[in-house]
Amino acid sequence: MPALNATALANSNIAFIKYWGNREETLRLPANGSISMNLEGLETRTSVTFSGNGQKDSLTINNKSITGPGLKRVNDFLDLVRQMAGINACAEVESKSNFPAGAGIASSAAAFSALALAATKAAGLELGEADLSRLARRGSGSACRSIPGGFVEWQVGTGEADSYAVSIAPPGHWDLADCIVVVSSEHKATGSTEGHALAGTSPLQFARVADTPRRLEICRNAILQRDFDAFAEIVELDSNMMHAVMMTSRPPLFYWQPSSLTVMQAVRSERAKGLPVCYTIDAGPNVHVITEKTQAEQVAALLRTLPDVTEVRIASVGGPARLI
Ligand code: PMV
Repeated sequence: MPALNATALANSNIAFIKYWGNREETLRLPANGSISMNLEGLETRTSVTFSGNGQKDSLTINNKSITGPGLKRVNDFLDLVRQMAGINACAEVESKSNFPAGAGIASSAAAFSALALAATKAAGLELGEADLSRLARRGSGSACRSIPGGFVEWQVGTGEADSYAVSIAPPGHWDLADCIVVVSSEHKATGSTEGHALAGTSPLQFARVADTPRRLEICRNAILQRDFDAFAEIVELDSNMMHAVMMTSRPPLFYWQPSSLTVMQAVRSERAKGLPVCYTIDAGPNVHVITEKTQAEQVAALLRTLPDVTEVRIASVGGPARLI
């Protein structure tokens, strides 16, 4: 069999209304819907080559050969692609990201969306956006949101067929920027896959999930109307609610560092003085400070003066996953 190769690029994304907990683990059907924005410039490039030569799949990430659970996860994902394409060839996967993995910058989102696109193309499949998003979801839930461009909503859906992400506004709709405040680039202790499995042990998860349609509507409308005040309030509330669930699960998960809280407080105080800024935090200690693009340099300069801040990266609104 001739080698079949494709390369894809996908951006990471930051969730404004968070996905936390699955109603079905294997299919990664989420407990609730979510909304995010793609992050331009925080990207993963992945090449996939299927050939009859290898005995098993191989994976390199940033030039390092990966074995164990990391390879197993990619292997399981490639099995889905092989099944869809009716092939049984092994794959060589080479992936490169330009941001740290496992530190709350949704590295798996960019990784599995790029892998979904590159692997299906290399296997000879031509999937539409919804099908690609559903497939990416199987690798990592948040990855389904990195397939479409701009501002994106992952529909909770009624089952496997309708739980995928769609664009609610293109990148140019609202010039927001994410100032990513790195307070630690250490790999987090509990990855999100294990974290999702604990969500249901928190007595607060039921209330968080039940209230999600309301938060989704407020956030969607705030984005569509470019209403920063309404947006800031709902984004911070949603992040606080997810972390309240994390901190009250069994065992509890504390992703924040003291410096994360310092950044959150500084953001609130600047907003009170009139600066359009708000914070949101994923499953890691780093803080995403959302602002308008015109203010991003000023906001980043201010954040760099805070204790324990090692780096601030600015990302604007990113486009969809694409073949390169
Ligand atoms: O896609 P996962 O399994 O890495 O989960 C992502 C979870 C959060 O980043 C905390 C929230 C989200 O919606 O992105």
